[in-house]
Amino acid sequence: MTLSVLRTVASLRDRVQIWRRAGERVAVVPTMGALHQGHLSLVEAAKTRAKRVIVTLFVNPKQFNNASDLAAYPRTEEDDTAKLTPLDVDVLFAPGVEEMYGSGFSTTVSVGGVSEGLCGAHRPGHFDGVATVVTKLLLQSGADLACFGEKDFQQLLVVRRLVADLNIPTEILGCPTIREADRLALSSRNARLTPEQRRIAPAIARTLFESAKRLASGEDATSTLDAARATLATAGFDRVEYVELRDAETLQPLAHVCGHARLLAAAWLGEIRLIDNVPVLPRNS
Ligand code: PAJ
Repeated sequence: MTLSVLRTVASLRDRVQIWRRAGERVAVVPTMGALHQGHLSLVEAAKTRAKRVIVTLFVNPKQFNNASDLAAYPRTEEDDTAKLTPLDVDVLFAPGVEEMYGSGFSTTVSVGGVSEGLCGAHRPGHFDGVATVVTKLLLQSGADLACFGEKDFQQLLVVRRLVADLNIPTEILGCPTIREADRLALSSRNARLTPEQRRIAPAIARTLFESAKRLASGEDATSTLDAARATLATAGFDRVEYVELRDAETLQPLAHVCGHARLLAAAWLGEIRLIDNVPVLPRNS
């Protein structure tokens, strides 16, 4: 199978229509490129659940609240294509900005509730940009299934909410976070870390896993979260944005572990913002 690179919505729709007529199930994996094993794990999950797989590659300007972050975002389409070819992906949909946001574009999809707080509080407009582009990609592809990583846990919940609220008939599959051997979550931004920053970076995962274990064994949430923030600062993070214990479905703050809880963190190394999250399972669950 050869991978087709499509750049227009019309060509994507034509291709999907052919598959639909043949009764084939279609999955989509939205990405901003610079593909790593985390992205590829979503592709593999899609491939086991649908005959046809579309990967989208679009560095979405609307979700960057920082112009220098957008400018520095890696763009490696040739390498990305090479990584997808052996995975039997059917289409790489890589539209330009004009195709996605033509002249006069004026619609924003804004999800309340789960997009407030955490990354939503620190990156104004970010989840509006994500919700708008994901809505477009789901409608453009008409996919039966879309795969998203738990690495961006709040984003996954925002997407689940918008699909339910807007009656978009696409099933959303959340996939586990893929990590390096030292447990640093894979991220396209990791490539920008200096060797010294790369040495410090795994502290975010290590601290989250250790804190989750403490919380699960009944330790006090306030003091555990304070200790986690202090550990990250001592490890060398330049700024700890948040370390929070939240309900895993509503993202409401939790004073102690009950039911499904999630521990989420964001911290800066120089100009680079890292995020991570882990489940907190009560001891007897
Ligand atoms: P991007 O950061 O490229 O991520 C694309 C998908 O890969 C997301 O669903 C993300 O959660 C998942 N992902 C990233 N790192 C992962 C890891 N280490 N393990 C498992 N999955 C991982 O997220 C976006 O792009 C954009 O916001 C997008 C949804 C494409 C909308 O523009």
